[in-house]
Amino acid sequence: MAENVAENNATLTVDGKDYQLPITEGTLGPSVIDVAAFQKAGYWTYDPGFMVTAPVESKITFIDGGKGELLYRGYPIDQLANNAEYLEVAYALIHGELPNAEQKTEFYKKIHSHTAVHDQLRKFFEGFRRDAHPMAIMVGVVGALSAFYHESFDVSDERHREITAIRLIAKMPTLAAMSYKYSQGEPFMYPRNDFNYAENFVYMMFATPADVNFQVNPIIAKALDKIFTLHADHEQNASTSTVRLAGSTGANPYACIAAGIAALWGPSHGGANEAVLEMLDEIGTVENVPAFMEKVKNREVKLMGFGHRVYKNFDPRAQVLKETCDEVLQALGINDPKLELAMELEKIALEDPFFIERNLYPNVDFYSGIILKAIGIPTSMFTVIFSLARTSGWISHWLEMHSESFKIGRPRQLYTGETRRDFVKVEERK
Ligand code: SDX
Repeated sequence: MAENVAENNATLTVDGKDYQLPITEGTLGPSVIDVAAFQKAGYWTYDPGFMVTAPVESKITFIDGGKGELLYRGYPIDQLANNAEYLEVAYALIHGELPNAEQKTEFYKKIHSHTAVHDQLRKFFEGFRRDAHPMAIMVGVVGALSAFYHESFDVSDERHREITAIRLIAKMPTLAAMSYKYSQGEPFMYPRNDFNYAENFVYMMFATPADVNFQVNPIIAKALDKIFTLHADHEQNASTSTVRLAGSTGANPYACIAAGIAALWGPSHGGANEAVLEMLDEIGTVENVPAFMEKVKNREVKLMGFGHRVYKNFDPRAQVLKETCDEVLQALGINDPKLELAMELEKIALEDPFFIERNLYPNVDFYSGIILKAIGIPTSMFTVIFSLARTSGWISHWLEMHSESFKIGRPRQLYTGETRRDFVKVEERK
């Protein structure tokens, strides 16, 4: 626990007795009240959805929802997205700060030497229907990595933990591209180490063995790398909390990351980027926006890509993505009517009291879907790309957890069920 416990405690008075609850200050953000003393009072805290619960201490990412600030290891997200490569950011998430030139070279070399997957893993794909959702495939094959690295499986061994982080970050683009190729009935493309991380992903996604001189559009690669950075981590969100909870049992990291992928898939979380495009398709034209907004206000549907548990003014990632969206569409000469539709939705949402009262602003998923579509990524791959990028964040939290002692996560509950202590035989039951 952080050393700088504040002098002042919180006092809890319950059943006529006072309990002193220590308050601990962090570097930034709200202080926390240690509620362990509740046990002595015979009470538990109740906080559905973990609205005000901090189950961990972390040094990785800080979010100020009111100011719309997001820091990875203290670096502002817009500075990282506009000046650093994703792999540099991944290094910072894992090691605590951006790499120097030598550390960068060493890290990139390690990543490049682990981009391939065991050839037998290819057979796992054949078990899926061709029309399987790529996220269903990713949950399966990432979990299946547990079956290939028995020699570096000891989570208590720091070297095993480090090589696992490298393997996961290196292999996610390869597995993601394979899940797409499989759905297209096209041959898998082996990673090429003359391409950088984002270029390699584009190559494995869209090249075929016949493309001996395949060229990656640098605008697309740069936009994708920025999207990876913007999705790399986000504090204790649902999927990261899933990875930590799975990790707290001592489960192997591949299984933990597979659990994170499963949690991210939900439309309220990482599945929202795919849901945004489906929503724009459903609305169709700008003329249909007013009627759709009425359905939102009547709570028949949610405005996908809007709202956030933490950001209550704006999502700083959405701001960077909005700029990137304009740049990419202009550079590629794309006039996507979906962008016009998205702008109209945003304009109304930012002016309409229903959305303003509920702090419903565009979040990271609102623009990412439009950019991904513009650079040719199929909608079904949007959340796969989110999981690819978030792997560096997930594994950083898993490593942080293992860098110190931890307890198995075991929340309690408020029980409101029946009590039936006198057993009634079946023939006497009504
Ligand atoms: C991500 O946690 C993270 O950091 C996640 C993430 C990350 O990087 O890991 O940032 C990634 O998941 C971004 C969010 C992507 N999801 C969506 O875009 C789906 C649409 N958004 C909603 O489902 C919702 O806004 C959540 C889930 C994101 C947040 O929900 P909360 O904080 O639990 O808020 P809530 O559901 O209690 O809503 C408060 C009010 C309610 O209205 P009332 O019932 O009080 O009148 O706002 C309404 C909600 O009905 N509301 C919406 C809405 N989101 C909330 N109404 C219409 N459209 C929406 N999108």
